[in-house]
This record gives sequence, C-alpha cells and structure tokens, in this order.
Amino acid sequence: MATMDKSAFFEHAAEVLRENDLGTYTVPTKGLYPFQWNWDSCLTALGQAHIDERRAWLEIETLFDNQWEDGMVPHIVFHKRDDGYFPGPDVWGTNRPVPTSGITQPAVAGFAVARLFERAKDKELARERASALLPKIHRWHEWFYANRDPQKTGLVAIIHPWESGRDNSIDWDDAFSRVPTEGVGEYHRRDTDHADPTHRPTKEQYDRYIWLVKHFRSLKWDTSKLHDASPFQVVDPGFNAILIRACSELAGLANELNLPDIAAKNDAMANQGLSALEELWSDVHGQYMCYDRKAGHLIDSLSIGGLLTAFAAIPKSRAKALTVRIADIESKTNYLIASHDPSDVRYDGKRYWRGPAWLIVNYMIADGLTAAGENEMARRIINSSFDLIRESGFSEYYDPIDGDPCGGSRFTWTAAMVLEFLLVV
Ligand code: GLC
Repeated sequence: MATMDKSAFFEHAAEVLRENDLGTYTVPTKGLYPFQWNWDSCLTALGQAHIDERRAWLEIETLFDNQWEDGMVPHIVFHKRDDGYFPGPDVWGTNRPVPTSGITQPAVAGFAVARLFERAKDKELARERASALLPKIHRWHEWFYANRDPQKTGLVAIIHPWESGRDNSIDWDDAFSRVPTEGVGEYHRRDTDHADPTHRPTKEQYDRYIWLVKHFRSLKWDTSKLHDASPFQVVDPGFNAILIRACSELAGLANELNLPDIAAKNDAMANQGLSALEELWSDVHGQYMCYDRKAGHLIDSLSIGGLLTAFAAIPKSRAKALTVRIADIESKTNYLIASHDPSDVRYDGKRYWRGPAWLIVNYMIADGLTAAGENEMARRIINSSFDLIRESGFSEYYDPIDGDPCGGSRFTWTAAMVLEFLLVV
C-alpha cells in the first residue's frame, strides 16, 4: 500500500477514535451505543495505543474500575444517563455505584493488555499499568471458569446471546426459542431509531433478550446462580477461544512481571480449555461448532463462531482446515469474512450477525492464522478489510456480497482495527 494511502487511512481512523472519545472511555458510536462496551473498549485500546499509550491504558482501566466484587466484568458500563439506548440501567437494576449491565462479554482484555505491553514504547508506564490490571483480569478469568463451567468441562457457557458479542447469530436460534416471552411487557426499542430495522434483530428476539434480563434480575444478579437458572446455556467455540488466548497471554505477561502463581493458573486454564475445545470439532463441517448445553448436542450452524477459534493456539491441522472453510465462504462472497455461511437458507447479508462481515472478527482470525503460519489467507482477509473501508467507510459491519455499509457509521472498533492492520500492510 502506498505511504500516502496509509497516512490517509491513519488520519481518518484517528479522527473516528477522537470523535467517539469521552475522555476516560470511548463509545462504540454516538447515538446507537452511547456507553462503554466491554470488548469494544479492549479492542479500541489497541488502536488508541498507536496514538497515545496513556489513553489506551486508561480505556481498559476505566472498564476494570467497574468490575464486580465477584470478579465479573460487565458488558456495558452506563457512565452517564442517556435515553437513546434500551435496555438502560433501570431495566437491568444491578444496583452498582456506576450502573452496569449484569452479564459479560468476550474476554479480550488479557490479550489486549499483553499486546499493549509488548508493543509499548513507554516501558515503565506499561509495567506500572499492566501490573495493576493483571490481578483484576486474572480474577475475571477465574470467575468465568468457576461460574460458567460448573461441571468443570473446561469450556464456559454464555447465558445470554449478548454475552457472545454476536447478538442475533443463527447459532442461538434453537436454544433461544426455549426462552419464554411472557410477561416482558411493553417497551420502546431505541436501536431501530438510529439504524435501519432490517439490519437489526427482530422484535421476537428482543422480547427474549429482555425476558432473560428480567429473569436474572429476579435472582438479584447473584452470578453464582445464573448459569444453572438460565434456560439458555450455549458453549460458543469463538467465545472460548478468546478466553483461552487471553489466559495464555496473561500467563506470559505474569511470568514477565514476576507473578508465577497467576502465570501457572492461567496456563492451566488455557490448557484445559484448548483440549476441551476439541470436543466441538465437526469432521463433517470442517470447523468447530457451538454446543447447546441444555439440549446436550452440537448446534448445526456454520457461523464465524467456529472460525474465531483460530485466535487460540489450536492444532496447526485445524487452522489449516479453517482456512479451507474460509476459502469456501470466500468463493460465495466478494468480501471476507461473512459471519454466516451464505449457503445456509437462514443467511441474511445485512442483518447484524446473520451474515455481515465485521472487521474485529477479521482481525482476530487473521492474527491467529498468521501465528499458525496461514499467512496467505491472513493477507487476503486484511486486504478485503481495506477494500471494505475504502468503498464503504468505517461502518459497524458490511454486507459481504455487495459491500454495503450497515448498522452504525463511524464506528470506533472498526477504526481501531484499521490502525492495527496498517502495521502489517
Ligand atoms: C452490538 C454487538 C456487540 C458490541 C455492541 C457495541 O451489541 O453485537 O458485539 O459489543 O454492539 O458495539
């Protein structure tokens, strides 16, 4: 890529980050998402570090300032009142000093902090900030395995689709149909005021999302009870892969910072997770699949969740097989990587996580494939990401066939990923 081209991308991405920066945290995009989101912030910090390392550390610190006493890190922190989003703090009712949601999101923090540390120009600052964050991230990892894997299988379950970060994925459809809708009552969704309703989850899905929130609230947000009490318990391979990667990165960092106990514990969690992940492999489909813990079977749904496993240190043969799967998806689309296989009748190229391509997922998969030596596919994923940016701007997500921009525009984590990709083109 020409240097001029690179600097134009850099400037534009930096501008999007600045625009959404509220000082101590960054909103995903103004209007649609006016608060701090968990994995958004951790991925955003990676981008911020290219501009201002202090600001990047602060982004993750603000998130962890709102960690619960039990170790959970919530998926949203409602720093300021804003009626533009539903469900707001009154619906969650978690009773926190700064209101938060009561569920979590993919555990990107361990990876992000290790990467910030490794790349830091200001090593002294990095040592100080990482040392303070590390025990908090460790507690979150322990919380996951203690509360979301009560049978000690080595894999954690999500109890609400929002936890996966892939809100309305086809993966959840069957398990989600067992979640009731009775008693949800009337409410006014705000997302469809900001974005095209045909790009968003349906009304029926929203009813079930809210039913789960109210159910957990009725259990007083005691996170040790929620897993067993949830009618929705799904083991998502991508979610687990992110946690596994975070554990092993945290172990490496802990060794470097002279914290051998934390290092050993995270290594053990990562190893258990990695070997348990193999139970989700499907020879028929050539990828990892989600597992419906309540129903006791794998879920027949070819989504990006199974491909995101490339982010963890899965066997090289598996990474190679995932490359074959991505090449197959590539042959059916014009831009990588569709979040769902287009040959599935349930595929919808514009509806959120039921088909569109997302740059954060591209980033994590390309990163893992590079580590596994699958450089050619990683390069294609990154080039395709730049094509999307060039043609459709810094959108929330994109139609992988016509490349249309979808969802919110001028999106923070999309911009952050561009800054990261610029390092390797
Ligand atoms: C949507 C996405 C989720 C993200 C949030 C804020 O809910 O599905 O992954 O964290 O928006 O961007």
